[in-house]
Amino acid sequence: MHYPESESYRFVRQNQRNQRVDFIVCFSSIFEALQKPVLSLCLDSISLFQFKNYFQQEFNFTERIVGICGNNGVGKTNLLDAIHYLCFTKSYFSRHDQMNIHHGHEGFRLEGHFRLNQKEEKAVCILRETGKKEFSVNDHFYTRFSKHIGRYPCVIIAPDDIQLIIGGSEERRKFMDTLLAQLDHGYLQSLINYTKILQQRNSFLRSFNDGFGRDLSVLDVLDEQLSKEGTYLFEKRREFLLKFLPIVKQLYNDICQKYENINLLYESEMHQLSIDELLKLTRQKDVMLQRTSAGIHRDDLLLQLAEQPFKSVASQGQRKSLLFALKLAQMEILKEEKRVSPLLLLDDVFEKLDEGRITNLLMRVCSDEETQIFITDTSCTRLRLQLEKMQQPVQLIEL
Ligand SMILES: Nc1ncnc2c1ncn2[C@@H]1O[C@H](COP(=O)(O)OP(=O)(O)OP(=O)(O)O)[C@@H](O)[C@H]1O
Ligand SMILES: [Mg+2]
Repeated sequence: MHYPESESYRFVRQNQRNQRVDFIVCFSSIFEALQKPVLSLCLDSISLFQFKNYFQQEFNFTERIVGICGNNGVGKTNLLDAIHYLCFTKSYFSRHDQMNIHHGHEGFRLEGHFRLNQKEEKAVCILRETGKKEFSVNDHFYTRFSKHIGRYPCVIIAPDDIQLIIGGSEERRKFMDTLLAQLDHGYLQSLINYTKILQQRNSFLRSFNDGFGRDLSVLDVLDEQLSKEGTYLFEKRREFLLKFLPIVKQLYNDICQKYENINLLYESEMHQLSIDELLKLTRQKDVMLQRTSAGIHRDDLLLQLAEQPFKSVASQGQRKSLLFALKLAQMEILKEEKRVSPLLLLDDVFEKLDEGRITNLLMRVCSDEETQIFITDTSCTRLRLQLEKMQQPVQLIEL
């Protein structure tokens, strides 16, 4: 007897078929990449001027493992965010640069001295009093900040990142995009284009119902542009996740130290239909809704535990373990693809983790001799004791 194939099953089957072909391609690119040595990256010092709670301060980092401790509100997270700024030209936490200016002042300046493959580099980020932001490396100013992304690969794990597991799909898309943007400038540029075209399409749809701009040929042009970028981004995401998701799964089971039936899938309407077809199908609906209801801006990562939605059934520890697995997989991929060891910023990771898991996690990240790690904790005693267990040189900064 023949049973009709369910949508989800067809989606999984399609995925598996694509995965087999792509695996061969991925494997050969991994093999090629392994030929090149991994370059080391470290931050030797940073100076902060009028940045968040810091008026003027300089920190010298003398060891590969840097512990930063102090009471609530002393500026541990802000220091990590300053490092993030130098790697990504922006804050991890606040959308607007202005929010990072020391209250009551105008503008800020961050300067970092990096060593990339033993060669010194000076990165400077300035927010002028006028609100203009400048970013330079070795006194060469970027005309486009996006060009800097990926030069200093960096991974941050912060308490609110648990939203990646329990929050909406936007969080997971942002995670995918941040990682892919670091790996591939073409991806970042295409994403910038896609977002711009999407905004134009949405504002056109809004004006459509007001009686303005009812010229459908405008929509045709926008759809064509959106399709071009969307198809490229979908293919990039699909190809990347094929390699990435099995690493996450493996890391998750390593962290738990036992097998758990977790599943991670790339969810996209584009597995079934091209974006071109989707936009045609949803055009009428889009005009009614005044927004674009199909496209890669609706993609998600499906997270499951025992075939149930992960966030509904997983415990707090399991959620945190999956978060770490996603972030550590991000580290592995960045290192493998960029051939540069990323900086790792661990903010308050000890909270809600038992002793065994803390040691397990630290052992894993500290054993990588090329990675520079910055780790914060409110308790200097706990941090010192935990880091001593690593039996490696450690610098402890008490704020
Ligand atoms: N623009 C700003 N100007 C001045 N102070 C600021 C600014 N932005 C944040 N702060 C201050 O920075 C402090 C928070 O710093 P941060 O988040 O780094 O603390 P923390 O050491 O990580 O604390 P916790 O242990 O609670 O995580 C707060 O007291 C906040 O008022
Ligand atoms: Mg903090």
